[in-house]
Amino acid sequence: MTDIGYTEKVMDHFMNPRNVGVIEDPDGYGKVGNPTCGDVMEIFINIADNKITEIKFRTFGCGSAIATSSMITEMAIGKTLEEAMEITRNDVAESLDGLPPKKMHCSNLAADALQEAVKDYWKKQGKVVEDDGESPEMSCGGGGCDSCVK
Ligand code: FES
Repeated sequence: MTDIGYTEKVMDHFMNPRNVGVIEDPDGYGKVGNPTCGDVMEIFINIADNKITEIKFRTFGCGSAIATSSMITEMAIGKTLEEAMEITRNDVAESLDGLPPKKMHCSNLAADALQEAVKDYWKKQGKVVEDDGESPEMSCGGGGCDSCVK
């Protein structure tokens, strides 16, 4: 545990993030903003046989956002889309052996962006996707805001 409350797993995924980058022309794409801090996250997925075969992320978020995104890419790969939709921010935080309470909002970005990417794929397939009314807001509209400039 570091002085600021990060576990070794968080530090590992922050210092050596997995699956960072962009997939050109992905099967599914999700982009969300964090209303709490204004940070932005993108997730790209490719699908085969209803399973996630490739996943990458890109974020303007903080260290916790990077660590949770890295972790969620490892959790999601190989999963069915339905299984991926079930991954919660708490699942991600638990897989990292916990996050400091004031950083829990950062884990929303990864879980929400993954769900948006799956929904994007389903929409492209012509599947009717229920709007749960909880779609994450882009506090800066995705174009960047003061909070993103760090
Ligand atoms: Fe914005 Fe962590 S994602 S402070």
